[in-house]
Amino acid sequence: MNALITNKFQRIWQQAKESSPLKQQSAVCISTINQSGYPESRFVDLKAVSTVGFTFCTAYNSAKGRQIEMNPKVSLVAWWDHIGYQVRVVGTAARITNELADEYWNTRSFEAQMSTTTFAQSREWTADSAPLTHFEQALANAECPVQRPAFWGGYTIKPQAVEFLTFMSNRVHQREHFSWDGTSWQKRLLQP
Ligand SMILES: Cc1cc2nc3c(=O)[nH]c(=O)nc-3n(C[C@H](O)[C@H](O)[C@H](O)COP(=O)(O)O)c2cc1C
Repeated sequence: MNALITNKFQRIWQQAKESSPLKQQSAVCISTINQSGYPESRFVDLKAVSTVGFTFCTAYNSAKGRQIEMNPKVSLVAWWDHIGYQVRVVGTAARITNELADEYWNTRSFEAQMSTTTFAQSREWTADSAPLTHFEQALANAECPVQRPAFWGGYTIKPQAVEFLTFMSNRVHQREHFSWDGTSWQKRLLQP
């Protein structure tokens, strides 16, 4: 992704975070394609944006992780109501390095780390006890520090297209669409 698009995203994201009324200020929606060909969407925390792409963390063996391993073509969308921006991305997800995964792991709270190591994200819960009861027992027996399990890491979405929409109350939204044509980034304006 070129510096112009990266900087534009960074600027808007920063603005969104500074004035955000939300508790989860970096949530973005990621869509992946499941085995039946349906898109599946869910929110994740956006960790970083650079000229390489958009990085989020998750369990590689979660539903989304398994879907990405089968089909790395994904999309991302953010809507920041308080500043009136939507950003849409389509691209290809690739795993981050173990070193970077360790860095992100170390920024997580003890409880978040323990949740990851206690549960198998996306799998059915079949035990008789409630997940929370199980978690409290796991916390009581936990040893610090919690090592990052090999199944937890992250993906960076290398974009193929990025669209910035400035919301207009008259619905004449301004849409700036950037796409990679294999050689360079092309900018077009799209109708609202
Ligand atoms: C605001 C918010 C932020 C979330 N952040 C993450 C995240 O960074 N990573 C993650 O794996 N799940 C995150 N989740 C949970 C996911 O939405 C989802 O339930 C989980 O990853 C399992 O998805 P999957 O079964 O499609 O793999 C978040 C949920 C919300 C509502």
